[in-house]
Amino acid sequence: MRAVHTVREVRESLESKKHIGLVPTMGALHTGHEKLIQTARGESDVVVVSIFVNPLQFGPNEDYGRYPRTMEHDLEMCESNDVDLVFAPSVGEMYPQPQTTLIEVGRLGEQLCGKFRLGHFRGVATVVLKLLNIVQPHRAYFGEKDLQQLTIVRRMVADLNVPTVIVAVPTVREPDGLALSSRNKYLNAEERQAAPNLYRALLEAANRIRAGERNPSKVREWGLPILNSSPLVRVEYFEIVDPDELQPVQQITGPVRIASAIWLGTTRLIDNVNA
Ligand code: PAJ
Repeated sequence: MRAVHTVREVRESLESKKHIGLVPTMGALHTGHEKLIQTARGESDVVVVSIFVNPLQFGPNEDYGRYPRTMEHDLEMCESNDVDLVFAPSVGEMYPQPQTTLIEVGRLGEQLCGKFRLGHFRGVATVVLKLLNIVQPHRAYFGEKDLQQLTIVRRMVADLNVPTVIVAVPTVREPDGLALSSRNKYLNAEERQAAPNLYRALLEAANRIRAGERNPSKVREWGLPILNSSPLVRVEYFEIVDPDELQPVQQITGPVRIASAIWLGTTRLIDNVNA
């Protein structure tokens, strides 16, 4: 018999030998998702991909109804990347009764996208915790493209002692810089042409910080004109935040994240870079 006194010791004593890697997705899989899957494949015995368009994380006026659903293609992509198990539940399977227990994510959910998508991160955190409980993976893989989601999931796992390691995977981009996203499918030709300005604006802001600019307002003044140069772009936010709490910084004194959301017609795009 062994008596242990720390959470870590409990986890380690009970650890099963097979390492399960989970990649949670909403389907419409692209090369960004594929990178997560390949990263999981490289460090897991069993790779599980979940495909579930989660109604709980969409607002009443958001794109739940028109979100792309490409199950056949998704299954092929999983197959060709040597995935062991695809979990593609129905809404009824995930929510057999109204979900009354919800994960409150606090201040982290009120910044950036959270200001404009009320309840979104509560829906994300709730479904991610359900998936972690269903699959019980050793590691779960999330893209840096969704910075706030990644930060919130990391914090939830720490706060609630979930025994899963959260692995961050760098953003995969098109050759012109546009971050891959299932929502890029919505863009028409003109909007698609303007879309790389998002990454360009973020890079310009990051360059200014690297060149020594410490005033976030000044940094924004370098990035915003690049976005506003296209009449098709409507800027939702363009913020310089600290990496832990995602709060806008008054002065740049250490590493920061520059994060932005824009609208191109009826399509909302997000991206972020480190500086
Ligand atoms: P979805 O948008 O399908 O994204 C699934 C995962 O792929 C997320 O972790 C996201 O950050 C990552 N991803 C998307 N585009 C990427 C890119 N260009 N490069 C790298 N990674 C990328 O995010 C969700 O689904 C949902 O909110 C989910 C976590 C599944 C909960 O419903």
